Amino acid sequence: MIKNVLVIGAGAMGAGISQIALMGGFNVSLVIKDKYFDKCIEKIRFGLEKLESKKKLKKTTSKELLTHLSRSTNLAESVKKADLVLEAVTENLEIKKNVFKIAGENSPEHCILVSNTSSMSIKALGEASGRPEKVCGAHFFNPAPLMRLVEIVRTDKSSDETIEIVKKWAEKLPCVRGKRYVPIVLKDRPGFIANRLQAPGIIALDWALDYAVENGIPLEHVDNDLFTPFMPMSPLILLDYIGLDVNYSISKHYESVLHPDFKPGEVMSKKIEMNELGVKTGKGLYEWKGNTLPEVDRTHKAGILSLELVFALQANEGCRLLEEKVVDKYSTVDDTLRNGFNMLGPFSILMDGNEEKWIQLLEDFAKKSGKEYLKPCELMKSGGYKEFH
Ligand code: CAA
Repeated sequence: MIKNVLVIGAGAMGAGISQIALMGGFNVSLVIKDKYFDKCIEKIRFGLEKLESKKKLKKTTSKELLTHLSRSTNLAESVKKADLVLEAVTENLEIKKNVFKIAGENSPEHCILVSNTSSMSIKALGEASGRPEKVCGAHFFNPAPLMRLVEIVRTDKSSDETIEIVKKWAEKLPCVRGKRYVPIVLKDRPGFIANRLQAPGIIALDWALDYAVENGIPLEHVDNDLFTPFMPMSPLILLDYIGLDVNYSISKHYESVLHPDFKPGEVMSKKIEMNELGVKTGKGLYEWKGNTLPEVDRTHKAGILSLELVFALQANEGCRLLEEKVVDKYSTVDDTLRNGFNMLGPFSILMDGNEEKWIQLLEDFAKKSGKEYLKPCELMKSGGYKEFH
């Protein structure tokens, strides 16, 4: 049974996951360097007090919950009491492997080791731990207290018991926006489900930003191509929010493991060179004042991208996820986007009479952009995805 959760890493994810683990009734120990401690605790306290002020903490207070939070700077020592270790350190495989090695060597035998990585190989972390059957991914989305989706990622070594325990644990973590949605990602493939579905959109967006600069079109006009008032954040604002450096390193990773077309474009590469990384540096694709969303004039579109193209790209990537056996039903793709991001499911729109049109749309865009990866895949062209219901 899980009672003591050890969270390693004090970024936005570490703080958010610690907050919801406290709210879920778990004891949380944070392994965190001294210099990050105050900021991280402040974030957790802010989140809990916010909910308390809205009377959304059930039968408890923020003060009481914070008594279940402790901290340590010594990983080897603090894992000794852990039932579940959640790693949320920087996206660097060597650093993560070292965390899993120390956790595997020092935690009790029953302890489960989970990574919140969005792009690294969970299998490699399992191997580093020396107990791969007790290792899986639990991919949360930022801000974790508000985003319902948690992807549980199994490797070919994760035991059924591990997956079951981590799924149940994640389902117990309260979410401000409703019940958690916790799909199982059947294969440890880059981007899992949600990020992978967005990945071809990033190729298209990167290409469109470069095209806009070459043709004197303001970048926000490209953002407006994909914006609807129903979105909490437009795509370029969301990229700034996630961090252009995070997006850049994920694209570089996909470039090496999925396809050369993921190579980041000129605009993105320059932003990284100039250290304009988004919210965290005060400037990215937009200028930021703290966390306040930038005000953008939404009147003009660039006419380079469209929401329909994004849906077609998501359906095509969903077909690849079926081909690669990352999911075994197309409904998992639709549910992940619906429950995770309040987006429409691409397969439901595809099968509403858009099959031929979308195949043509993808062919045309791939030709125009020179991005081969965006062409419709075999399962999309054949309609074979309909068998996976
Ligand atoms: N705990 C409790 N409440 C919190 C909170 C927390 N930790 N953080 C924020 N809130 C509250 C706020 O206080 C606010 O409440 P009030 O309205 O009562 O003041 C409410 O939640 C909304 O917060 P904000 O005012 O900060 O929010 P906003 O309206 O400006 O929206 C946003 C910000 C929640 C981030 C919203 O824009 C959103 O949902 N954006 C989409 C985020 C998204 O797609 N995330 C996924 C990124 S991808 C990823 O993470 C994965 C990866 O691998 C990179």
